[in-house]
Amino acid sequence: MLDSLGGLERTHTCGELRESDVGKDVVLMGWAAKKRDFGIFTFIDLRDRYGLTQVVVSEEEAAEAHSKAKNVRGEFVIAVKGSVVRREDGTVNTKLPTGAVEVRVEELLILNEAKTLPFELEKAGSQNLASEDLRLKYRYVDLRRRTLQENLQMRAKAMRKMRDYMDSQGFLEIETPILLKSTPEGARDFIVPSRIHTGKFFALPQSPQILKQITMISGLDRYYQLARCFRDEDLRADRQPEFTQLDIEMSFANQESVFRVMEGVLKEVFSLVEGAFETPFPRMTYADAMRRFGSDKPDLRFAMELVDLSRELEGTDFAPFASTLESGGEIKCIVANGCAGYSRKVLDGHQEFVKRYGASGLAWIKLGEETTSSLMNALGAETVTRLANASGAESGDAVLIVAGRKSVVAASLGALRKEIAKTEGLIPAGIFRPLWVTEFPMFEFNEETGNYDPMHHPFTSLMEEDVPLFKRAIEDGETELLGKIRAVAYDIVINGYEIGSGSIRVHRSDIQSLIFEAQGLTPETARERFGFFLDALEYGTPPHGGFAAGIERIVMLLCGTDNIRDVLAFPKTASAQDLMMDSPGEVDQEQLDELGLSIEEKRERSAEG
Ligand code: AMO
Repeated sequence: MLDSLGGLERTHTCGELRESDVGKDVVLMGWAAKKRDFGIFTFIDLRDRYGLTQVVVSEEEAAEAHSKAKNVRGEFVIAVKGSVVRREDGTVNTKLPTGAVEVRVEELLILNEAKTLPFELEKAGSQNLASEDLRLKYRYVDLRRRTLQENLQMRAKAMRKMRDYMDSQGFLEIETPILLKSTPEGARDFIVPSRIHTGKFFALPQSPQILKQITMISGLDRYYQLARCFRDEDLRADRQPEFTQLDIEMSFANQESVFRVMEGVLKEVFSLVEGAFETPFPRMTYADAMRRFGSDKPDLRFAMELVDLSRELEGTDFAPFASTLESGGEIKCIVANGCAGYSRKVLDGHQEFVKRYGASGLAWIKLGEETTSSLMNALGAETVTRLANASGAESGDAVLIVAGRKSVVAASLGALRKEIAKTEGLIPAGIFRPLWVTEFPMFEFNEETGNYDPMHHPFTSLMEEDVPLFKRAIEDGETELLGKIRAVAYDIVINGYEIGSGSIRVHRSDIQSLIFEAQGLTPETARERFGFFLDALEYGTPPHGGFAAGIERIVMLLCGTDNIRDVLAFPKTASAQDLMMDSPGEVDQEQLDELGLSIEEKRERSAEG
C-alpha cells in the first residue's frame, strides 16, 4: 500500500544538509538510489536533482519505518522525516557534499513504487552507459543521470545570462511565429498542412531571419530572441532538426557594433565555467582560414598549419604533381611533430582518412634517424630534403602531403590536422579559443544546379569594394565573377565549432532584387516568395545587421561534450526520430481527409495488395 503525502512538506533537498544542520528535524523526499540492509539498520541513499543524502532507519528507534524500508527498492519515491546526526568517525563520505551527516528516520512514506529500470543509471560513471537508443527510449530515466541534469542546468544558466545581458544592452525580446512561410537558410523546410486552406502549407522557420529584419524596418531598433529553428537536413554530431538560437538584430549597426555585442554576451556566458576566454576575439578572413587551416572553422587550440609546397615543386616532372599544378591545383602539407616513427599501418590509416575527403593519396616524409619518404624514388633525395625544409619540419617530425584541387586539399588536410591533434593528444583541455572569421564569399557555386547560391543567405550585403565586380557579373553576364565577391558576413568559431553566423544586411530593395537575380531566381519567383519583404524594404529601412548563435553548440562547449543530444532534454536521433514518443508517427485517415492529403506510398501498396 502506498502512503499519501498528506500535509507533509519537504524542508530540505537531498543536496543541502551539512554539519551545521546537525540536530535539526527535517523532511526529505526523493528516489531511493541505493539500499543496504544490515539487520536492525537499513541505509538508503536518497537522491534528487540537488544531490544525495544517506538516511538510516533503525528497527529499535522506528519499528514501523524500518519494516517499510524493507520493501523499498531501487527508484521507489519515498519521504522521510527525522533528525540530522553527525556520521560516526570512519563513516564520513568526503566525496559527497552531504557526506558528514545522515538523517535518522522517524517516519518513512513510500510515495510510489518503480519497476526495475531498463538500464542501470550510472554504475561505473558515465563511461559505462547503456546504448544510446535504449536511453533515448527511456529518456525520463536517463534524465535522472547527474551528468544530464547538470547539462540542463548549465543550459538554463547560459540562457539566463543571455537574456540578462541582452536586456542590459537595451535589446527587446520579441517572439516570432512558428507557423511561417519558407525562410531560406539552405536546408529543407518542415512543412505543416493547413486545414482551413486545403492544399496550402505553412513552413516552420529555419530561422526568424526575415522577421527580425522586419522588426528593424518597424523601428524596434534592437531585437533578440531565444529562437526555435527547424531544419530538415542531414544530421551530424552537432546538428539537430530542431534547435535554438540566440538571435539578434540591430539597426544602424556596422560589423564592429555587432562584434561588440556578441563578444560581450559570450564573455558573460563563458564566465559560467573555468577556462580562459579573452575578448576581443582575434579575427581572420575566410580566405586566410582556408589557406592556413583548410577550414572555415579552425580550431586554434593547436597550430599545425597547412604549408604550401606548390612553389617548391614548380616544373617538377613527377606526373601527378605536374598535372595538379597545371590544372590550377595545389600541393600542401602539414607537419606532425614528433611523428617520424609513424608505422606503415598508421600512414595507411591516414591515407584512407584523406581519401574520404576526395584526396587521391597521401605522400609522406619522415625525418627519423634517416630521412625516408614515399616520394624518394619519384623526386630524389635532394627535392625531398628541400620539401622537408620548406615545410618547416624538424628532426623527428613527419610531413604529410596532399596534392589536388584546392577544395580537396583544404578539406582533406584540414580534417587530417584535427584527427592527428586528437590522436596525438595535442589539444589542451579547459581552454576556449574564439575567433571571428570574416569576409565570407557571398556566393558559392552549386554543381548540381549550376547556380550561384548565397553562402550565408540572400539578405547579406556585399563588401563595398566588391560591388563593381557584382555589377559586372550581373550587367555583363560574367556569372563566374560571382564566386569572387565577398560579403559582410562573419562567423564565430570556438575550438573548431561554428558557434554562430551573421551579416550586415542589404537594406535596399533594388540591391536585394539583384541578389535574388544573381542566385538564379526569376523576378516572378522572387516576388512570389519574398514580395512582401521587397515591399517592406521600400518603406524606410534603416541599415541593419545581426547574428545568430547556436545555443546547443555553446552549451556543448560549456559542458565539455561533443554530443548535441547531451544538451537537450528531448533530442532526436541521428535519423531524426524521437524514440520515446515514437515520432514521427502516422495520423488518422480522418485527419488526412480533413487536410485533403493522401499518402502515395500507402495507396500504391494497397493497390498492389
Ligand atoms: P546559420 O544558418 O549560420 O545563420 O545558423 C546560425 C547558427 O545556428 C546553429 N545551427 C544549428 N545548431 C544545431 N543544429 C542545427 N541543425 C543547426 N543549424 C544551425 C549554428 C549556426 O552557426 N539567420 C542566420 C543568422 C543571421 O544572419 O543573423 C542563421 O540562421 O551554431
